[in-house]
Amino acid sequence: MNGLSFALLRALSDGDFHSGSALARGLEVTRGTIWNAVRSLEQIGLDVYRVRGRGYRLCEPVSLLDRDVVLRHAGEQAGRFRLEISDLVDSTNTRLMSLAQAGAPGGTVIAAELQQSGRGRMGRTWHSAIGGALTFSLLWRFREGAGALAGLSLAAGVALSRSLAKLGAPVQLKWPNDLVCRGAKLGGILIEMQGDALGPSAAIIGIGINIRLAPAARAKIDQPAIDLASVCSGPIDRSRVLGHVLAELARVLERFATEGFGPFKSEWAASHAHQGREIALVLPTGRVEHGIARGVADDGSLIFEGAGGIRRVHSGEVSVRTPRAPAGAVPRAGAQRRA
Ligand code: BTN
Repeated sequence: MNGLSFALLRALSDGDFHSGSALARGLEVTRGTIWNAVRSLEQIGLDVYRVRGRGYRLCEPVSLLDRDVVLRHAGEQAGRFRLEISDLVDSTNTRLMSLAQAGAPGGTVIAAELQQSGRGRMGRTWHSAIGGALTFSLLWRFREGAGALAGLSLAAGVALSRSLAKLGAPVQLKWPNDLVCRGAKLGGILIEMQGDALGPSAAIIGIGINIRLAPAARAKIDQPAIDLASVCSGPIDRSRVLGHVLAELARVLERFATEGFGPFKSEWAASHAHQGREIALVLPTGRVEHGIARGVADDGSLIFEGAGGIRRVHSGEVSVRTPRAPAGAVPRAGAQRRA
């Protein structure tokens, strides 16, 4: 995707027909160049209708980001952000990390129409397609060092759950920082820290939210996934979602900076997808333990009741426990391994 392809996408994003000659005139290129740019939109998974005498139109309108609309929806918090919208980046977190290193102020936001190498937690890839997700990173600076900011990613989860609820999407939170809805993943948070152990520090808060997952994008995701379009009624304006989410993040982060995660703990637990449920906990060593998720502590750790009693877990992955056969149960016919 080059600059021209994005300019063409912007022209077609309304979902109406545009003639090849009007597009060529508007973008000051030849009709042949428009044809090639249409091919590059198709190559990244967008379906374009071509109708003789009418021109080109996207099969589905694409919601592109509009800075003014984002800031309008951020309301009274808008002044706190320095928003940069990029067509294409490798990863908004990676880009913001280098801006932070170079002294970018807190409140800097990088939002991307498309990420080429979006990153998830635990070294995973974050897949998204153009218009199909909201992908952005927010820089927030703290006086303290990273060690004093335990629970930051959970607080960010609370901000997401509040703002998405206001937009008509009741989401749940999965420890440590997944957004889930109807048991499937709607989004995730990747926080990366910079700075001195004793402070000051900078958090790069990267957020990905599925907006409309095309079948090809869904096929790349290795777990059940859901998008906002299936949860909310009506078309989703990505700029509106971003504005609301940023405003809520600013409110939550401001309070977090002085009071920590404690004031958000009960709200987090109220949205906890696994509260009081049997879970499988995968520890960073790869060891799997079964037990009950009892909630979260003030430092954002998971309160886990396992075979050895109740303890706090600081890192790991949680999934709903798959029921095990009771001890002594006879395997079903056909379920036994052949000798
Ligand atoms: C996860 O669930 O594993 C976290 C996903 C975080 C993805 C977002 S998309 C915007 C930002 N830039 C990245 O490269 N990753 C985060």
